[in-house]
Amino acid sequence: MAFKIGEVYRITNRYLEIIHNKDIFSKPVSSGNGLHIVGMLNSYISIPLYNSQNAIGIIFEQIEPSKERDILFNPKNESIISKIRLIGTFNPLSKTFKRGIDYFPTLESDVFTIEENDIEAIYNSTLKSDQASLQVGNDIYFNQVKINADPNILFGKHCAIFGNTGSGKSCTVTSILQGVYLEKNRLQNANNKSLKTIIIDSNEEYSNIFDIDGVKPDWVTLKDYTDLELSHKDLSFYELTQLLKEDSPNVIPYLKTAVKKLKGTENVDENIYFEFSQLEVEIENAVPDIENRGRMVPDTFTIGFLKHIIMRIKHFSSDERFKAVFNKTGNTIEDFLNSDTEQVLILSLRVANDILALFVYMISKSIFNYKTNPANRRKDNILLVLEEAHRYISTTSTDQMNNYYIDKLAREGRKFGVNLMVSTQRPSEVSNTVISQCNSLIVHKITNNRDLEFIRNTIEYDDKSQIDLLTSLKQQQALVLGEAFAFSSLIRIADANPLPHSETPKIFTNE
Ligand SMILES: Nc1ncnc2c1ncn2[C@@H]1O[C@H](COP(=O)(O)OP(=O)(O)OP(=O)(O)O)[C@@H](O)[C@H]1O
Ligand SMILES: [Mg+2]
Repeated sequence: MAFKIGEVYRITNRYLEIIHNKDIFSKPVSSGNGLHIVGMLNSYISIPLYNSQNAIGIIFEQIEPSKERDILFNPKNESIISKIRLIGTFNPLSKTFKRGIDYFPTLESDVFTIEENDIEAIYNSTLKSDQASLQVGNDIYFNQVKINADPNILFGKHCAIFGNTGSGKSCTVTSILQGVYLEKNRLQNANNKSLKTIIIDSNEEYSNIFDIDGVKPDWVTLKDYTDLELSHKDLSFYELTQLLKEDSPNVIPYLKTAVKKLKGTENVDENIYFEFSQLEVEIENAVPDIENRGRMVPDTFTIGFLKHIIMRIKHFSSDERFKAVFNKTGNTIEDFLNSDTEQVLILSLRVANDILALFVYMISKSIFNYKTNPANRRKDNILLVLEEAHRYISTTSTDQMNNYYIDKLAREGRKFGVNLMVSTQRPSEVSNTVISQCNSLIVHKITNNRDLEFIRNTIEYDDKSQIDLLTSLKQQQALVLGEAFAFSSLIRIADANPLPHSETPKIFTNE
C-alpha cells in the first residue's frame, strides 16, 4: 500500500526537496515481495498532481536539516530532507507512464511511496504491447519487477558496458546475448530476428556460452587465430604502407613495383592474393640493382630503407600469430555473413594487443565493406561485440589505421545496420568517437576517478546524480541508462547460464 512519507519543501528546476520525519525509516512496508525500508536512498516516490496524474521521482540524496543554514530556524528538527530527481509522470488510472514532467508539484504537496505493482506498471508502460522487448534484469529493490530494454535500440544504436574488473561485464554481455539467442523467455514480440553477432573474445571466455547441455548449436561458429582468415589482399596499397610503417619516397616505388609484379596488374589496390613472403624476395632483388647502378658511391641510403622494410615484412610473414592476415586467402567474416545458417561467430583471439588491433581493423573493414555494398543492405543486421575494447581501440593509439573503421562504424554503422556493443573496464581510454555514439549504457561498479568523471561527462544531465552510486554497486548490479531503457535505474542483471569462463582463479583453497 502506498504510504505518505513527507511533503514537498523546495522546488528547483532540476530537483525537488521533500521533508519528512526521521521515524519513517523505522517503518518498513510489505510490498508483496518482502519488506522494504521506506524513504531510503534510490527509492521511488510519487506526488499527486492537480490533474490527477502523479509525478514520479527517485531519492538521490538525503541530508539532516540541521546542516542546512536556512532550516536552522525551522522547528522541525526531527526531520530529514531528501532530494528528488523527477523522472516522469504516471497516470494511476490507466497505469501509463511517460518520461519527463509537464507540470511540477507545488510546495507542501504530499509525497508517497510507490507500490511494487505500480513500479512494474511504470517500467512496463514504456513497452508497447506489440513491440519487441528484452528482459535485461530485475529492479535491485523490487526483485520481482522485470527491467526490459528495447532490443531495437539496444542493438540498433550502439551500447556500452562499463565496470571494474570482476564487476560482471562479461557475464552481462553473455546474459544479454543468451536472452536474445537462447529460449529463455526474455525476448518478447520478436518472432523475426534479423541479427548476426560477431564477438571479439580477447580473453577466450565466450566459447561455450550458447552450449545447450554441453553441445554447441550449429548456428554458432567458433574460431581462434589459427583458423581465422583475414587476408592481406583486402588491404589497399596505402594500408599496406601504413602497416609496414613505410612512407619514405625512396622506398614506396620499390614496394609498388614489387606489389604490381606479384599481383600481376598495374593496379596496386586490386584485391588479388599473393604470397606475402614473396614481397621480401622481390624487394631484395632490387637491392643489387641499386648497388650496381654505376654511380661512384652506392645509394646506401635507399638500401638501408629497403633493409628496414624487408625486416618488417619478415616480421609479419614469419610470426605464426599473423598467419590469419598474411598466409591465408579467405575472409572468415564474409563467409559468416553470407552463411544462411550461422548466426553467431565467436572469435577467440587471445593474442597481443598489436596483433588484436590489426585483426579488429581487418574485421571492422570487412563488415563495413560488406554492409555498405548495396547488394547486402537488406541482409541481417550485424552486432559487433568488442570485449575489453580499451586493449585495441584506445585513445592513445598512435597508429592511424587502428580505429579508422571502428570509428566509422560507430558514426555511420546504424544507418546500414551495423551496431557495436563495447565492453571495457577503462571507458576513458577507449576511442571517444565510439563511446560518444553509444545510446545506451550499462554501468557496473566503477571506482577509478578518471572513469567516473568520464562517465559523468558522457551522460545526460538528469542522470548525473546517480554516478555517485557506482562506487558501491555489487557484482552483477548495474545502473542502466539511455534510450533503450524506460529510465535510468539500478538493476540486477539476469543470471548468465552457462557462465563465460571468467572466474577469478582461487589462490588459497582447502582442497
Ligand atoms: N549476470 C551474472 N550471472 C551470473 N554470475 C555473474 C553475473 N554477473 C557477475 N557474475 C559473477 O561475477 C563474476 C565476475 O564477473 P565477470 O567476469 O563478468 O566480470 P568482468 O567485469 O567481466 O571482469 P573483467 O574485467 O576482469 O573481465 C563471474 O565469474 C560470476 O561469478
Ligand atoms: Mg570480463
